[in-house]
Amino acid sequence: MEVKASVKQLTDALKQEHGITPGLAVVIVGDDPASRVYVNNKKKACEAVGFLSEEYALPAETTQEELLALVETLNNKADINGILVQLPLPKHLDDKAVIAAISPLKDVDAFHAVNVGKIMLGEYDFLPCTPAGVMEMLHSYHISVEGKDCVVIGRSNIVGKPMGMLLLHENGTVTICHSRTKNLAEVCRRADILVAAVGIPKFVKADMVKDGAVVIDVGMNRDENGKLCGDVDFENVKDKCAFITPVPGGVGPMTIATLMKNTLKACKLQNGIA
Ligand code: GUN
Repeated sequence: MEVKASVKQLTDALKQEHGITPGLAVVIVGDDPASRVYVNNKKKACEAVGFLSEEYALPAETTQEELLALVETLNNKADINGILVQLPLPKHLDDKAVIAAISPLKDVDAFHAVNVGKIMLGEYDFLPCTPAGVMEMLHSYHISVEGKDCVVIGRSNIVGKPMGMLLLHENGTVTICHSRTKNLAEVCRRADILVAAVGIPKFVKADMVKDGAVVIDVGMNRDENGKLCGDVDFENVKDKCAFITPVPGGVGPMTIATLMKNTLKACKLQNGIA
């Protein structure tokens, strides 16, 4: 079953059997247009699966103290099971301190050090949304990772690093590339599964992709005409590979589905329901 449909079914059951509704609080600071689109999509998804959804839209001038105070209030709010502070934050705010302030039990992004550590150990409650969305997509297309050469371009805490770890958990042979990688094109050409999470429009060209590779595009950029595009030069790469995800409409929706799964899990954990 589609992830969101399954979350909806489990949420309906939770309401009927226990009288509990999962709640997600999304915090957005400032008026970054991309963040606004992401937050709207997250709110819509909450409504679609039957969650309580609260939005806290704070002005760009919000102070660190005010933001931390809101996080603390949400940590203690019984009807809120998941807290998501949309990144990036305006420059004067310290995102590390904000993430550290979120209760690990409500950290549905899996950004808190406790949850990152659990992922490293392979014993986690929450999976990071985008990497887990990628894995979900691979599973749904019956693409096995076991023994494959997996190359991730990008080493961010949000995507690249945890992506490498999830591929490793499924027995892939993982290489994480970054701006200092030598012979990047050559390394990428070895990949059976290539994940682009670099944040540069159309960065992955056809000569970086092996024939028959699986190409996953995590990028969300604007091209020279302001049109949404990924990190992969889709038009020139698509005919070379066995499988490729488009942008928009590829990994993005799977990311949100994972967020819904995490929020439901957080709710169950907080209520002592297995
Ligand atoms: N900004 C871009 N991706 C994400 C994400 O997965 N979570 C949060 N909180 N902010 C983001």
